[in-house]
Amino acid sequence: MESWQTEYQKSISNPVDFWERASELVHWFQKADKILDDGKQPLYQWFSGSKSNICYNCLDVNLQEGRGDKPALIWESPVSASSQTYTFGEVFHEVGLIANGLRNLGVEKGDRVVIYMPNIPQAVFSMLACARIGAIHSVVFGGFAPPELAKRIDDADPKAILYASHAFEKGQVINYQSLVDEALDLVEKPLKVAVRFNRMEGAQESRHRPICWNDLKLHGNDVATCEHLDPSDPLYILYTSGTTGNPKGVIHDHTGYMLALKWSMQHVYQINEGDVFWAASDIGWAVGHSYIVYGPMLAGACALLYEGKPVGTPDETIYWQLCQKHHVKTLFTAPTALRSIKAKDPEGKKMGAFKLPNLKAVFLAGERSDTDTLSWLEKNLKVPAIDHWWQTETGWPMTATCLGYDGQSMKQGSCGRPVPGYQIEVVDDSGKPLPTNQAGNIVVRLPLPPGTLPSLWNNDKGFVDTYLSNFPGYFETYDAGYFDEDHNLWIISRTDDVINCAGHRLSTAQIEEVLSCHEDVAECAVVGVKDALKSQVPVGFVVLNQGSEPMDNKQLTSQLIDKVKHDLGAVWAFKTLFVVPALPKTRSGKVLRNVLRNLLDGEPAKVPPTIEDLGVLEQVRQAISLRMP
Ligand code: COA
Ligand code: AMP
Repeated sequence: MESWQTEYQKSISNPVDFWERASELVHWFQKADKILDDGKQPLYQWFSGSKSNICYNCLDVNLQEGRGDKPALIWESPVSASSQTYTFGEVFHEVGLIANGLRNLGVEKGDRVVIYMPNIPQAVFSMLACARIGAIHSVVFGGFAPPELAKRIDDADPKAILYASHAFEKGQVINYQSLVDEALDLVEKPLKVAVRFNRMEGAQESRHRPICWNDLKLHGNDVATCEHLDPSDPLYILYTSGTTGNPKGVIHDHTGYMLALKWSMQHVYQINEGDVFWAASDIGWAVGHSYIVYGPMLAGACALLYEGKPVGTPDETIYWQLCQKHHVKTLFTAPTALRSIKAKDPEGKKMGAFKLPNLKAVFLAGERSDTDTLSWLEKNLKVPAIDHWWQTETGWPMTATCLGYDGQSMKQGSCGRPVPGYQIEVVDDSGKPLPTNQAGNIVVRLPLPPGTLPSLWNNDKGFVDTYLSNFPGYFETYDAGYFDEDHNLWIISRTDDVINCAGHRLSTAQIEEVLSCHEDVAECAVVGVKDALKSQVPVGFVVLNQGSEPMDNKQLTSQLIDKVKHDLGAVWAFKTLFVVPALPKTRSGKVLRNVLRNLLDGEPAKVPPTIEDLGVLEQVRQAISLRMP
């Protein structure tokens, strides 16, 4: 096995050579005439002049290599009492029909298609079908409310929406039709095509007249030709929370993304053809795109698609039941999911009862892993628990303990060493590199490796302003942390208003926007506070307009909490709100969010000398102490 040190150095000293060698891993309709085009810095283009298609690499290549009757996708849905396995041949068939169906509806290369579905196979087929014909998919997570769906539709301006009639969440049936109807009523431009997959009998009528799923597939045959795509052709837009209230449309292209994912399956996760890989995430998140839908199939492996929770569907052993049943080799999940299992099985007695000889590793991401949970997992499963760090923007891990390389030192609490391709540095606010063990801004030297975001949807300027301007020559990750003496990276926090709540990336600014629209609210602040299960949850403070005569505070707070759930979605987990006479601020008027966070976390508040009014702080402290233990 190659050593991490040698390969990492090669990737940094000569990235062009490194990725040219790696490019042998995938199929090209036409090879690149230039591996890296740096003519438009700070924007870069990998594999200029090439033609490829990720769907071709996921499906056709596997059929050509004789894996047509091998499993490609296992669907396990305890919430709908369903379980089904699809071979590569069957996925090819389904994808071909949908791809042809979309073409018949007028969807062409470059058109956008919004997908609003829970974790069902039809979502995976739809994504691959879009990729096949060069349409750009934009999957919206089902936990987002109609106004959020509408915002994304407005920005992506899609030709079609593909959605499911229902989802199942905590014993309840969620009527997606009414959510989609509400969103379509809100969008600026009417959408031409809506296609609905009926999960249950008796889906409600819709004034938007959706085409039925079976009719979409009716006119096609399963051999849909593949578009030959340029390296700059986007594969998808995925909206994510960022520095402002508006979600950012991160794009990933076919070419670099397909290569990076295939490379990572081999070198980071050590997954080969025939292995079963389970990313217990949602197709609406980056992890779902990369490691449910595309990564495993690119590797000729089988992906497990799971519709359910880590606990309660039916119980806290479901992860181990499925690992055992399907001989899962690698599980990828979020620490919060493991904490929810640990709370129900603290001694690991139930998990210890399962025989999992195939399971080789559990990878974790989405938030910082606590050492308690890591130790509990390793002790009871007897496999390494590997924390690794990445973002929607990168689409694949920036740091990890790569199983495909020798000579790494894993340290619990850190998220590993830089993955080849990523030259990561820690700098102070002026961009000066910081020494080992000193925390600062985590940045990645340009050019980023293939597969990472080339830009934001329709917004090169926003991309440059947001990510490439504060630290010229670098990509700004908006995470803070430090390197230790063994070059392991330790993540401490975000540097913007993003919080990680139950493995979901959420923006407190978006909650503030909803609160501040209320007629009685003069100003507000929302901060993320520590939570034993979800890592962080948002907590809000509102100051009411002087002279307004609002309803009683209890009624007002529950109205505001309901409004956040209605406008943004239940996943924001916004359940605590304080009405306070004023917000603690600096003399220059900046709200002291850190101080609010400290007070809520029960830590000593670090009050800056520039505070405007200490009395305000005392009032806030009292308001909190009346409600919090
Ligand atoms: N449609 C509608 N509502 C949804 C939804 C969906 N697709 N997904 C979540 N929700 C709702 C939930 O029902 C819940 O509502 P409630 O607060 O009224 O009960 C709310 O949104 C929050 O959901 P969630 O964050 O999933 O919390 P939970 O309490 O239901 O479950 C965990 C907690 C830890 C078990 C769960 O968050 C989890 O499995 N997290 C891991 C996430 C993950 O894997 N992320 C990928 C990163 S790699
Ligand atoms: P997302 O774009 O939803 O994948 O969220 C990315 C963010 O999640 C990162 O910027 C980090 O703040 C956080 N994150 C992801 N992985 C880790 C990790 N292993 N350790 C700490 N934080 C992480």
